[in-house]
Amino acid sequence: MERVIIRGIGSYIPECVLSNADLEGMVDTNSEWIVTRTGIESRRVCLDTEMASDLGYEAARKALENANISVCDVDLIIVATVTPDLRFPATACIIQEKLGGTDVPCFDVNAVCSGFIYALDVARNFLLNNSKMKNVLVIGTEKMSSIVDWEDRSTCVLFGDGAGAIVLSRDTDENSDAGILDVLIGADGSLGRLLYCPICDSGGPAGVKSTEKDAYFIKMEGREVFKEAIKRMCSVAEDVLQRNDLTVDDISLVIPHQANMRIISAIADRMKIPEKKMFVNLQRTGNTSAASIPIALDEALQSGNIQSEDLILTVAFGGGMTWGAALIRWK
Ligand SMILES: CC(C)(COP(=O)(O)OP(=O)(O)OC[C@H]1O[C@@H](n2cnc3c(N)ncnc32)[C@H](O)[C@@H]1OP(=O)(O)O)[C@@H](O)C(=O)NCCC(=O)NCCS
Repeated sequence: MERVIIRGIGSYIPECVLSNADLEGMVDTNSEWIVTRTGIESRRVCLDTEMASDLGYEAARKALENANISVCDVDLIIVATVTPDLRFPATACIIQEKLGGTDVPCFDVNAVCSGFIYALDVARNFLLNNSKMKNVLVIGTEKMSSIVDWEDRSTCVLFGDGAGAIVLSRDTDENSDAGILDVLIGADGSLGRLLYCPICDSGGPAGVKSTEKDAYFIKMEGREVFKEAIKRMCSVAEDVLQRNDLTVDDISLVIPHQANMRIISAIADRMKIPEKKMFVNLQRTGNTSAASIPIALDEALQSGNIQSEDLILTVAFGGGMTWGAALIRWK
């Protein structure tokens, strides 16, 4: 049976570190509050001149190198983002040009913090249903700093910028059961009001009058999002395990969306997963939305937390509200 594997992976976070101490000078907050409520100690932010496509390009370049293929071998590019450079063309098209690619379909997916899992599912289905496609580049990239209200202490402490990318390829090795075993995605549009952004272009609100600026920024009902996040991530993770006849004991490592340490701990607690199996890097990245899972996956791999044949569960939740989970047997 044909399977789809992750053939290459790469990530990129901008150089500029914005620490909790830096935020203390910008809004009425303190590092202890941020660490206690979220686990976040610092996050990375772009320069004004850096766009989501620049971050995505860097991550994609590394993923192609890691997969040992060139952009000419890529049959489709999908970008998950809520901070596109422009309303159009799609950030996927902009990254294609930066990579020097041409002549293959490119489009963006918007499922907010679940975007990478949505894009993974779309890419996997393209590969399984179109025998002409061999390699698909999936990128999660976000310049969240462009849609964060830096005067709103309840949201600005949470988010960061970054990008992660994978190359998905069809694998015909009959002696292997590695690959993307399953992906499950869902949404409830009636909860959209809990987390939304009226307008978004990562070009930012430059030139917009201050009274209009508000429309560019993230609005969030923090407490309700918190509760929904735990509920939905637990249920989608349990569903994907159940329909594959697996239990949490079969899982080597969980890569949860990196939103909040308390959300991750609550999931571990509710699903009876030892905390050491929950990969966490949010203390250095903050919530990078669609980029969070591929960055965490790459960092887990680089730090030796993933071995061949390990079973990985990724699980995400985001505005929409959307959610998703994927099971990956690592190769
Ligand atoms: C945002 C979040 C950390 C706030 O934590 P909380 O425990 O719910 O805190 P509350 O919003 O109830 O606020 C408690 C108090 O802290 C204050 N506060 C909010 N942000 C603050 C900050 N950065 N620094 C200091 N105080 C802050 C509030 O004003 C409130 O003060 P009050 O009691 O005097 O009114 C938490 O709700 C959360 O993480 N929600 C999920 C957000 C998320 O992950 N979104 C993305 C999903 S993909």
